[in-house]
Amino acid sequence: MYRTKTCGELRISDIATKVVLAGWVQKSRDLGGMTFIDLRDRYGITQLVFNMETNEKLCKEARSLAREFVIQISGIVTERSNKNINIATGDIEIIVEEFKILNKSKTPPFTIENNTDGGEEIRMKYRYLDLRREPLKKNLILRHKLSMTVRNFLSENNFIEIETPYLIKSTPEGARDFVVPSRMNKGGFYALPQSPQTFKQLLMIAGYDRYFQLVRCFRDEDLRADRQPEFTQIDCEMAFVEQDDVLKVFENLTKHLFKEIKNIAFDNFPKMLYDDAIRYYGSDKPDIRFEMRFVEITDFAKGKDFKIFDDAEIIVGINVKGAAEYTRKQLDALTDFVRKPQIGAKGMVYVKYNADGSIKSSVDKFYSLDDLQKWTSIFDAKEGDLMLILSGDTEKTQKALGELRLEMANQLGLRDRKVYKPLWVVDFPLLEWDDENSRYHAMHHPFTSPKPEDEHFLETSPEKAHANAYDLVINGVEIGGGSIRIHDAKLQAKMFKVLGFTDEDARNQFGFLMDAFEYGAPPHGGIAFGFDRLAAMFGGTDSIRDYIAFPKNNHGQDIMISSPSAISDLQLEELSLKIDLRKKEDN
Ligand code: AMO
Repeated sequence: MYRTKTCGELRISDIATKVVLAGWVQKSRDLGGMTFIDLRDRYGITQLVFNMETNEKLCKEARSLAREFVIQISGIVTERSNKNINIATGDIEIIVEEFKILNKSKTPPFTIENNTDGGEEIRMKYRYLDLRREPLKKNLILRHKLSMTVRNFLSENNFIEIETPYLIKSTPEGARDFVVPSRMNKGGFYALPQSPQTFKQLLMIAGYDRYFQLVRCFRDEDLRADRQPEFTQIDCEMAFVEQDDVLKVFENLTKHLFKEIKNIAFDNFPKMLYDDAIRYYGSDKPDIRFEMRFVEITDFAKGKDFKIFDDAEIIVGINVKGAAEYTRKQLDALTDFVRKPQIGAKGMVYVKYNADGSIKSSVDKFYSLDDLQKWTSIFDAKEGDLMLILSGDTEKTQKALGELRLEMANQLGLRDRKVYKPLWVVDFPLLEWDDENSRYHAMHHPFTSPKPEDEHFLETSPEKAHANAYDLVINGVEIGGGSIRIHDAKLQAKMFKVLGFTDEDARNQFGFLMDAFEYGAPPHGGIAFGFDRLAAMFGGTDSIRDYIAFPKNNHGQDIMISSPSAISDLQLEELSLKIDLRKKEDN
């Protein structure tokens, strides 16, 4: 037997027992008469003691044990004189009687401790060493706990987990596909699923009215902290439901997870219309841990010869409570912030309502004290508050102010990671206009149904139609999204037409689904949560990479296994992908 106990379980009650442990040498300290080794496994750390006086030979041998050697020891559990309150086994230590080296280790390229000295790149290359560290181990255990809790909850609520294929068909909607060439079907390509969307709808038609799957999805898109090219969804679909039925089940799932993982209870989640989210927060995923709602002053600020405002489509701002003491330098830095290309504002106007009641603004030249007082009352500002105002095209300005709002909250410490504020954002627009390609895109996906009362817009002004679509947002992160689907073949065909598909294209791409709609498709809808994002949110960080055992870097590479990589000529040939250079030259 390699071990009788783990390195995390021995306590004072085990004193005087003989144990066998196996694990990795975390570190060793040689104090002349004694050698101490911290032995680590998945469960914790146990201190080993080798004594020069009682067992000189063994003690000398133990000095050869370097970091990350894998060893097996047997010894007696004793009480520690110097207790370590920071670890669960801190009351005891093992007087080692025998040990065996199970495997040696090279010196690791970075220290395997909570605060490592290793840079990002080197830790990715040696991910298996990084995964030995406590913080990453904790993350993976949290992820496991979440997945078990999700599965149990959904199973208890009559959902069944059904696997759908990974080798599917490429479609032009959404992000770019990863494609896989087919050897047996020359010139043919599979695509890896961006989500199991069409398959889960087919399962509804097949009668499996509550489906779920913890499923890998693949999207070839630019990467960020909250995006990976392969990521996991909690994917669900339900038949015979309306929007509120779906929201209820998934609100309950979310509440259950918070209770189980964080012991936090919630009242019902607020619902916000998409249009209001944009109007008041400049984002379809507002962080509502803090207020700072947008206040529009377009009608009050025009006509005073301030050209920038006079030319603007919208003039809108936020009231930052208690920030009137911001210095000139800080305000300049905020102006620089909003002018960054990724924020895109041209400038920023401020109005300080000072603690002494005086009002000072960056546009005093154009506006009288009366004007400014009027603004402060519209903003409901009090002494000590700071108003920050942007102007310009509506969409851009709202977006920029949304970023400024988050920046101010960051600066003022209003985004407490221990506070959770979930909300549903509902009634998204059905379509968005793509200027570059002069066509509409589905805002969610082409299977999302319009609100019944907006269906008529499809023929006249499609951009006005709202969708039966919803997102779950927590602390400014889009955790999940879904919709009630179209289940009528005619409406689906109309939708494809609005999206610019010819009848032939629609048939080629989605004929299987339209055919299935002809065989008794029930009304249905669903949702998918980003499982990695959910784990990161519960773990209190932004980067989902830390919750994935083997993630990709920002260039979509796995530098540990050097992927993506070239393949052999033979493989290329088999897949009919080899470009015959001679032929090219001949041409
Ligand atoms: P959607 O595209 O909104 O919907 O995706 C659902 C959720 O998946 C997460 N997510 C990601 N997580 C990590 N990396 C990515 N690259 C990534 N892309 C998306 C987000 C998002 O909210 N089939 C529909 C769902 C439905 O309609 O039922 C879909 O995939 O948290």
